[in-house]
Amino acid sequence: MADFSPIATEYQRRASVQQAAGEALLDMLAVASAEDVLDLACGPGALTARLRNLTTGRVTGCDAASGMIAEARRQYGDGGIEFVECDAAALPFAGEFDAVYCNSSFQWFADPTAVLAACLRALRPEGRMAMQCPAKAEFCPGFVRAVEELRQHAETRDTFARYQSPWLFLETAENYDRLFAGAGFEVLESHMETAVSRCPPEQAMEIFHSGSALAYLNPQCYAGGVPPDYPARAAAIVAAALRRQAGTDGLVSLAFNRVYLLARKRGG
Ligand SMILES: C[S@@+](CC[C@H](N)C(=O)[O-])C[C@H]1O[C@@H](n2cnc3c(N)ncnc32)[C@H](O)[C@@H]1O
Repeated sequence: MADFSPIATEYQRRASVQQAAGEALLDMLAVASAEDVLDLACGPGALTARLRNLTTGRVTGCDAASGMIAEARRQYGDGGIEFVECDAAALPFAGEFDAVYCNSSFQWFADPTAVLAACLRALRPEGRMAMQCPAKAEFCPGFVRAVEELRQHAETRDTFARYQSPWLFLETAENYDRLFAGAGFEVLESHMETAVSRCPPEQAMEIFHSGSALAYLNPQCYAGGVPPDYPARAAAIVAAALRRQAGTDGLVSLAFNRVYLLARKRGG
């Protein structure tokens, strides 16, 4: 599993794309004023703090990365939010929450069925789950194109041939519906959206480092590991590729394909 701890203090500055999607997911969940809410894979807690403002009920954030939980406690620990370090597939909660909120994290779960089972256990009868994550193999065509250069480049092609994606990316909203329905949820609503960010190449690279880099530059995602200088070389090649994608206005267009899904615990 990718460890987000090393980027915990930098994450929020780079996470403009995740934050914008997270706001839309808050609208979809429509938390009622006294509901108890779990922020699943909360990262450094900025969206957990948004949830805190929406309900007088219990707000809990959990994440597998100790660095993320430490950063969340440092930033928001005094604000009436409980932060728990745990894997999403092994939640220590039973029938305690009215809603689970999961933003920009579902693609990282190695065993999504186990995570959904843990969410069902954590929810009360009729409890809701709102989930947003990047979707489709071409989750961000600009990044996919830039990373394709690692396959061609003489310095990286032998290593990149051993890359194994850790992500779950399904191609349609119906695919996600089936996954949730099979786990025991009733899907109330789901759709795919493409959101476009236009930014300078340097900022595009910051966005790359908020998530994608934790797979593409992560030695654990390569069968047999990587040479010590590979992450830096690969990052330089991706950065150069993004610079070449800039238009005459100097900006790169990053289109992100995302799925939004709202479901209810069945059989409550
Ligand atoms: C891209 S960040 C999203 C953070 C936050 N939800 C947001 O929208 O800004 C993904 C988070 O998922 C967490 N994560 C990945 N796999 C996990 C797992 N199996 N259990 C719990 N957290 C996990 C990572 O540690 C990281 O903090």
